[in-house]
Amino acid sequence: MTILHIDSSITGENSVSRVLTGSVVDKLRAVDPQAAIVRRDLASEPLEHLTLDAFADTSVLDEFLAADTVVIGAPMYNFALASQLKSWLDRILVAGKTFRYTANGPEGLAGGKRVVIAVSRGGFYEDGAPMEHVETYLRGVFGFIGIAPEFVHADGIAVGPEQRDAGIANGLAEVERLAA
Ligand SMILES: Cc1cc2nc3c(=O)[nH]c(=O)nc-3n(C[C@H](O)[C@H](O)[C@H](O)COP(=O)(O)O)c2cc1C
Repeated sequence: MTILHIDSSITGENSVSRVLTGSVVDKLRAVDPQAAIVRRDLASEPLEHLTLDAFADTSVLDEFLAADTVVIGAPMYNFALASQLKSWLDRILVAGKTFRYTANGPEGLAGGKRVVIAVSRGGFYEDGAPMEHVETYLRGVFGFIGIAPEFVHADGIAVGPEQRDAGIANGLAEVERLAA
């Protein structure tokens, strides 16, 4: 099995999403100690904004297609994804590779992959909250390419130290449940 481990948090040692993605990868590795781990840190090695020329380089897409399981850290910054993660997604949603348009509408071509996404947010967001553009967006774009991602969450991180601890504990408990 090949696991692609992606982080996009800019907050380094203080990152909550990195705690959760690390925990998910540890659990996966415990199940399959032979698994190959491919690491992509979008904060320390950012991809450039998408340009037409960038489509010529398929290395990021090839890395995604070669992975069996993809673990993604998705912090909320200004109610949306880190732009680093958006730049990665811009290389993954490629017509003819991960989706295609048919007479019956769009069809996802990347099914069969497991995608686990660790969302960390400063506040609390009900399902469908109007300013929530992280989980909603990621569920939509991965669904578009044929994947139903699994989510773990750490919320209330910016509310105060107690809420931060509780949010991380909740996220780690969700990781445990996912692994069970
Ligand atoms: C630049 C920046 C912008 C943020 N914007 C929001 C926001 O719009 N809404 C929110 O709920 N939390 C916001 N937060 C809080 C983060 O979502 C929270 O700290 C989360 O843990 C970030 O993930 P990380 O710890 O992995 O970096 C923001 C944090 C930073 C650093």
